[in-house]
Amino acid sequence: MAQLVDTAQQMARTKLEAALPRRWRHVQAVAAKAGRIAAAVPGEDREILIAAAWLHDVGYSPDLVDTGFHSLDGGRWLRRERVDERIAALVAHHSCAWLEAEERRLGDVLAAEFPREESAVADALCCSDMTTGPDGQDFELLERLAEIRSRYGPDHLVTRFIIKAEPEMVAAVRRTESRLGSRVPQPM
Ligand SMILES: [Fe+2]
Repeated sequence: MAQLVDTAQQMARTKLEAALPRRWRHVQAVAAKAGRIAAAVPGEDREILIAAAWLHDVGYSPDLVDTGFHSLDGGRWLRRERVDERIAALVAHHSCAWLEAEERRLGDVLAAEFPREESAVADALCCSDMTTGPDGQDFELLERLAEIRSRYGPDHLVTRFIIKAEPEMVAAVRRTESRLGSRVPQPM
C-alpha cells in the first residue's frame, strides 16, 4: 500500500482506536469501502480518496476538538501536521460539511480556511461515508440518514443538517454509481 495511505491509516488509528473504538470501526469500514469503489475516481486520485477516507472523522478525537465541528477540527489538525493540503480540504468539507457548518454558524470560517473541491473524489468520499453505519455495517444511504436522524433526535442541528443535505448526498451517491457502472456495495 502506498505510503500516503499507510500514513493516513496510522494517524487515524493513533487518534481514534483507543479513544473512540466505535468511531474507529466506522472509519475502517469507510476506508475499505473507498478502496472498493476507487474505480469511480481517476487512477491518480485513488490514494487521495483512500487516505481521506481514513482521516475523514479524525476530528472527533478528543485530542483534536477545537470548534467542536469535527470536519473543520480534523482539517485544521491535518494542516498543522502538514498532511497533503488536498486531503485536509477534503476532510474539512467531507459529506456536505459546508451545510453543517452553516447550521453551526461556521460556514464563513470553513469556506475561508479550506477550498471546497467538487469532484469524483469528493463524491466517492461522501458515498463511502454515507453508506457505512456507525459500527461499520453497510447501509443504504436513505437508511443511514434515517439512522442519523433517530440517533440525534428531531431538534438537533445534525438532524437539520441531514435533512438539508439529503438531495446533495443522494446526488453524490448516484454520480459515483454511474462512474462505477454499478451500484455501490449494499447490505446483503
Ligand atoms: Fe464518517
